[in-house]
Amino acid sequence: MSEELYRPGLEGIIAGETEVSTVEQDSLAYRGYRIEGLAEHASFEEVAYLLLEGELPTAPQLADFRKRLDQHRAIQPEIVETVRMIPKSVGGMDVLRTGVSMAGHFDVAKGDERPALVERAIHALAVVPSIIAARLRLLDGKEPIDPKPGLSHAAQFLYMAFGKAPSELEEKLLNLTLVLYAEHEFNASAFAARVCASTLSDLYSAMVTGIATLKGPLHGGANEEAMKLISRFKSGDEAKAWTEEGIKNKAKIMGFGHRVYKNGDHRARILEPLMADLARERNQQAKLDVYFAIKNTVFDRKQIHMNVDYPCGLTYYLMGLPIDIYTPLFVASRVSGWAAHYIEQYTNNRIIRPRSRYVGPALRDYISVSERG
Ligand code: SDX
Repeated sequence: MSEELYRPGLEGIIAGETEVSTVEQDSLAYRGYRIEGLAEHASFEEVAYLLLEGELPTAPQLADFRKRLDQHRAIQPEIVETVRMIPKSVGGMDVLRTGVSMAGHFDVAKGDERPALVERAIHALAVVPSIIAARLRLLDGKEPIDPKPGLSHAAQFLYMAFGKAPSELEEKLLNLTLVLYAEHEFNASAFAARVCASTLSDLYSAMVTGIATLKGPLHGGANEEAMKLISRFKSGDEAKAWTEEGIKNKAKIMGFGHRVYKNGDHRARILEPLMADLARERNQQAKLDVYFAIKNTVFDRKQIHMNVDYPCGLTYYLMGLPIDIYTPLFVASRVSGWAAHYIEQYTNNRIIRPRSRYVGPALRDYISVSERG
């Protein structure tokens, strides 16, 4: 066997080739377009199209893509009833895992040629915000709201969740987080979706795989955990003291650190100033003091930078969104990246099957139960 290549957690291992994105210390780019430009100028729909089709859409292509998203937004009554039956205590990511799994039973395409895969990807993209919004309404004792054609992806979610069109600022901020969250190379959930694709399983199963993987607090679940942490403190001093103690006790501070980025997460740097403006506009200076106290203490003590989940949690809080949908909103965006990886793997495939280094007991003979005492 060739020289054994083993790194815990596959750290630094090149596990495949991709044209979808590059994640480097000095740049993050989707299909060659730097995240800074996309964050400043692009709608999430443009980014989703770029990830799925490899090019930014022309105006007619974007209009058609938006129309196809609208065509798939309404969720079947069976899905609504399933979501209604899920106990209220069940978290948003587990609800979404079930909802997307149900959506897969209403497949929108035939066969497995690329156009069919793209249609399923658009279906998954469209239903995720609708499922999240439906759950919010049902938890509030209200019936889900039907989608309103013509709204942007971000506005559509806020409209279906809260029954009114969002302010321009809320739509812009949600759109920005969706652009920032859309894709990130071979992160754990994207790689899991690729493993699923590599067995030639279906796209909906790969999306459910992604949801189940992103849920973990070491991955997408960190945006909720980071906000829960910030909510614990009334002042910067209190937050600083807790953080110092936590670091001393080797606690993992949610929203910080990254397997690839060691000089900071480009996405966090883009989002933070806009989040801070919103905090000041909404008289939440105390939350901002706590936010910076934790961030500065983690960096001062461990030279660890924040990742995108840290400012994103507080952004969603400032927008008045319930914490339980923060990671589901990450899914509403990352379905685009997962689907791009699924299609890339599925259409140029070799099953993903690594080896392991055996460190268990040496070979030994069977002993009958009577001899085992
Ligand atoms: C996402 O991969 C992606 O691209 C993911 C993502 C995407 O867009 O898909 O960017 C989204 O998942 C962002 C990460 C969100 N997760 C968190 O914020 C959870 C907290 N972060 C850590 O658990 C950790 O930083 C990871 C999981 C993100 C990375 O883990 P690694 O690369 O295995 O790093 P490690 O745990 O080996 O830590 C290396 C050192 C350790 O110190 P020592 O034990 O060597 O002294 O850094 C320390 C760790 O203790 N460290 C932290 C820390 N993160 C790393 N210490 C305190 N708090 C932290 N958050």
